[in-house]
Amino acid sequence: MRVILFGAPGAGKGTIAGMLTDKLGIPHIATGDMLRAQVSEGTDLGRKARAYMEAGELVPDDLILEMTRRRLAEADARRGFLLDGFPRTIAQAEALAQMPGGPPDVVIDLQVPEEELVRRLSGRRVCPDCGAIYQVDTMPPRQAGVCDRCGGKLIQRSDDTPEAVRNRLEVYRKQSAPVLGYYRERGLLRSVDGTLGSAAVAEQVAGELSPRGQA
Ligand code: AP5
Repeated sequence: MRVILFGAPGAGKGTIAGMLTDKLGIPHIATGDMLRAQVSEGTDLGRKARAYMEAGELVPDDLILEMTRRRLAEADARRGFLLDGFPRTIAQAEALAQMPGGPPDVVIDLQVPEEELVRRLSGRRVCPDCGAIYQVDTMPPRQAGVCDRCGGKLIQRSDDTPEAVRNRLEVYRKQSAPVLGYYRERGLLRSVDGTLGSAAVAEQVAGELSPRGQA
């Protein structure tokens, strides 16, 4: 099963993918996580991507497409994938159709109003060691600043500053939202209310992926 989890910054793509990846038996492939790993390893790609990411701009397509094509060619992605953060432009959606595995079977749009996105991102904390995601008000760790899963020290992402968040939302409206129309025209788009609690959102997404949901 080839699934795209779509949605604005802060809609919950990473949170929901993390809850479903084991259950579905397909890998969670997040282009943002892959880029952050390149930045922290100081690779050539990481050095080129860093300034775009910190400003909340999209990383140029030539860098993203090669990285994603390689990842989708790995053995575990033959069973399918949960793609998070890709595609973000029509050009990326068109390129995905030509990559290993081909176009998606279904695209799930997590719908969350903008004021809620801003509230979520201003209080997001992430674990740089295991990737767990928290929110200080709604999904806090048991001990402030410490990851429940691995004991790592939680951090705030460098693109969760108010200025970068404003720009990410603007970039989403202008460059990424048109991708919804691209998949709607192809009959692949399903919408889920992303404002519910994370367990309820994950349940609704799983329902859309069941044979009945896709009928
Ligand atoms: P990326 O890492 O993909 O960031 P994003 O799309 O902005 O999405 P986020 O990770 O911010 O949000 P999310 O939807 O995963 O929400 P989360 O689950 O964390 O990309 C970062 C950058 O990399 C881009 O700006 C760009 O520069 C570059 N990039 C990446 N892919 C690219 C591409 N294809 N092309 C070009 N450039 C690319 O949840 C958010 C918060 O809400 C958390 O605190 C969480 O605890 C909380 N939360 C989640 N669900 C709920 C819920 N149901 N109720 C209450 N709180 C919730």
